[in-house]
Amino acid sequence: MKSTSHIWTNKELNGDINYNQNIDEISRANKWDSLLTSPQWILFNPAEEVVQFYNNYLDSPSRQVRNRINLTGKKVHDIGFGGGRHIYFFSEMGFDVTGSDLSETAITITQAELAKRSLTARLELCAMTRLPFKDGEFDITISRSTINHATLQDIKKTIFEIARTTKLGGLFFVTFISERSSEWKKGKEVVEDLSYIPNSGPEEGLIHTFLSATDVVALLEPFFRIEEMYLSEHPPLILNLSDANSKDTYFGSQHVVIGVRK
Ligand SMILES: C[S@@+](CC[C@H](N)C(=O)[O-])C[C@H]1O[C@@H](n2cnc3c(N)ncnc32)[C@H](O)[C@@H]1O
Repeated sequence: MKSTSHIWTNKELNGDINYNQNIDEISRANKWDSLLTSPQWILFNPAEEVVQFYNNYLDSPSRQVRNRINLTGKKVHDIGFGGGRHIYFFSEMGFDVTGSDLSETAITITQAELAKRSLTARLELCAMTRLPFKDGEFDITISRSTINHATLQDIKKTIFEIARTTKLGGLFFVTFISERSSEWKKGKEVVEDLSYIPNSGPEEGLIHTFLSATDVVALLEPFFRIEEMYLSEHPPLILNLSDANSKDTYFGSQHVVIGVRK
């Protein structure tokens, strides 16, 4: 079993993080720019976990949640917005929305869909490891199925950037691929038990870092109080019963975390 118990060094916690600064190289490895040219990869409905986050923390929080979280601001930042589905969702719900993504295609298609819906949002072409935003600029940061497409070092730099740009008391919604996923340990091994690059399928060539619940807590706790954490899992699509135990059947597993910037 891997040991990532000391995810952060003291130097890294103060921002001295050795991450990949070659943005051209990261852009070239980002398969999403070409995937998003196919309508199959452009989703318009918000993910269930994001709607649940909106309902439980923003729209109608319970008294328990209201006692712990005092959030009035409406500035949302979506990191890795892809086809823009959560940009439209938060914009339609009356939030002041900013999105950032490394893919020019993501920017183009989201801009066009915003215009079609008569909505506005600020969209920035940038890497999540170097966010062009001020300290404490956002009340809420969300990032779904994005941050795990990086090495652990780049993930740490991204978390540091999110902590920097999310205001104290602000909310952070994030998902990380878990090692229960059927994709764990498939493809080229970059770091044993931790990071792999699939050598087939749509995400071929794209790095995936798989985290345990312990890793996720260690990664976030220096900056965020963890309010809620659960696994969102997609059972294999069983076309016939003989597929049920097949090692090739895709099984998706993600940690969903809601944190408060401390
Ligand atoms: C799997 S898609 C997720 C889209 C969206 N969040 C959703 O839930 O539908 C990942 C997105 O992250 C973007 N991305 C990947 N690596 C990135 C990086 N290093 N910096 C910024 N965006 C990145 C990709 O361009 C892509 O649009």
